[in-house]
Amino acid sequence: MKILYVTSEAVPFCKTGGLADVAGSLPPALAEQGAEVAVVLPLYQRVRDRFGSQLKFECYDYVDLAWRHNYCGLFSMEKDGVTWYFLDNEQYFNRGTLYGQSDDGERFAFFSRAVVRMLDHFKFWPEVVHCNDWQSALVPIYLKDDGVREERYRSIKTVVTIHNIEYQGRYNPYVLGELFGLDAGWAKDGTILLDGDANLLKGAILCADAVNAVSPTYANELKMPYFAHRMEGVMRQCSNKLYGVLNGIDMKLYDPRTDGRILTSFSAEDLSGKDACKAELQRMVGLREEPHTPIVAMVSRLVSHKGLDLICEVLHDMMELPMQLVVLGTGDQRYEDFFRWAAQQYPGRVSVRLDYNEDLSMAIYAGADLFLMPSKSEPCGLSQMIAMRYGTVPIVRETGGLKDTVQPCESWRDAGNGFSFANYSSGDMLHVIREAVYLYKDYPDVFSRLRQRAMSCDFSWARSAREYLRIYATITGQAWPLHSSTCRAAETSAEDAAPVEETAPVVDAAPAEEAAPAEETAAPVVEAAPAKETAPAVEAAPAKETAPAVEAAPAEEATPAVEAAPAVETAPAVEAAPAEETAPVVEAAPADEKPAKKTRKTASKSTSKAAKAEKKSEKKTSAKKGTAGKKKSAE
Ligand code: GLC
Repeated sequence: MKILYVTSEAVPFCKTGGLADVAGSLPPALAEQGAEVAVVLPLYQRVRDRFGSQLKFECYDYVDLAWRHNYCGLFSMEKDGVTWYFLDNEQYFNRGTLYGQSDDGERFAFFSRAVVRMLDHFKFWPEVVHCNDWQSALVPIYLKDDGVREERYRSIKTVVTIHNIEYQGRYNPYVLGELFGLDAGWAKDGTILLDGDANLLKGAILCADAVNAVSPTYANELKMPYFAHRMEGVMRQCSNKLYGVLNGIDMKLYDPRTDGRILTSFSAEDLSGKDACKAELQRMVGLREEPHTPIVAMVSRLVSHKGLDLICEVLHDMMELPMQLVVLGTGDQRYEDFFRWAAQQYPGRVSVRLDYNEDLSMAIYAGADLFLMPSKSEPCGLSQMIAMRYGTVPIVRETGGLKDTVQPCESWRDAGNGFSFANYSSGDMLHVIREAVYLYKDYPDVFSRLRQRAMSCDFSWARSAREYLRIYATITGQAWPLHSSTCRAAETSAEDAAPVEETAPVVDAAPAEEAAPAEETAAPVVEAAPAKETAPAVEAAPAKETAPAVEAAPAEEATPAVEAAPAVETAPAVEAAPAEETAPVVEAAPADEKPAKKTRKTASKSTSKAAKAEKKSEKKTSAKKGTAGKKKSAE
């Protein structure tokens, strides 16, 4: 199988986001499974600066696009069993940043056109071209365009992966010919047109042989207006070729046993090094050196869809818990102001670093106890998987890949690998943070088993690579890989790679109840929570607030968050369906796992046994309150 992977960024060459991590890891994983793989990227200034001396000049050619006739150089590098190609045009790519420039449309149209033009110069003629996001969305369109005249272009099958549907590449349709060299027919027949704009991603989705979203839940969510940024109709239309292959992480790069970036190595079997990492983190970021206080961490871009409004609403309530908070990231001014203010309010308990720093992020993954991702939407999310690998237990909202990678803790039967909440509500988030903090404080053994289960999850790329190969086999009509040992593994994951089931619009989504078991089974943990269930967070937060910065943030944001709620509430119904099938394995199934049928009452009993006698009755009352509150909000 010959695969050409087209991407606008890839680790270690150039990175602005998660796409780069995927593009850096998936192609080598495909090669490891026996595929022939080449990746093609623009030759940005930063690639030239850092890797220039390792690149081999292959050849050059000219690329015709509309009236432009531009030079294109081809450089290459062999690495990890993959050929990495770089397309050179200094006018377009010899710049300080990757994106965000006024001529991005022209730059990536050149890139896409050049990929097709340079096919003759690559080491093989691909059977599959796999594109990513809007920057390479024109490739399947150009292949169709050229395929009308030349059969050899028609022989290539195409896959497009959507990493975040928010970014679609929208342009005025009048520039279709001028900028993209496409006939007006592409807009007239609607292929590339959405809401009056030329929409490159839409065109790619319709033209590609397979469309992939980066998690099964995201693939389903994309059929709903709340998540789809106007593309829900297109996504529903293509559901027969829509897949949701979950991303992986580089398990070698992120390995607490060998990672030189962290202070002391550790493993699921021996966690003593993690204590040292925690003490080091507390020193580094100016948190009180308290070994028994759980550190809740966030490493995130500080933007709205990461769910930061929820934190703005209940920060004070969170800080009433015996916990510390560390935040690393940059982003919107209003969130930066808010977190700066929060750190001033809680010196020694809240620490905030408004930048992006790889070393500090690793210190956080290694040293923190809990990792918070309350995202409004999250196509896949990689940080929660990295955090788990380092024994930092995730607390997530059940959306996209977060839902597919985190199974809520059921302490009574030692199951689950994190904590989660369904509705986009600060009260619900607070509730699970409280569960997590008190599980850590009051039941250290249970928490440490939970930590070990999180660390044992298999997020390796090999699994995802097999699913991709299955898709490539499906669209090319090949039986891949039928005659090797890996083929059996691929066969077993065949169902994972099957198109996500056509999910009817939200209304049909029966499993509203399905979400319930997760909440119900979480009950024992709830019992460990303290008596006081705080009133709805929205009210709670502003009461104490004096700083203008904070007022500004929740005031603007609270309303949309509340308004958004109904849409989110309906979402989990559909989300619920694929999660079980595709969720990555929590390897460490406890030996004495009890049947799942065990009732909540029995469960409570077993937890209560573990609890200290004097706490028992008080906590039971609180749990009842908590669970009731939770159910109410779920309704
Ligand atoms: C985007 C998404 C993120 C995903 C990544 C890689 O950055 O926002 O959720 O993990 O792409 O697919």
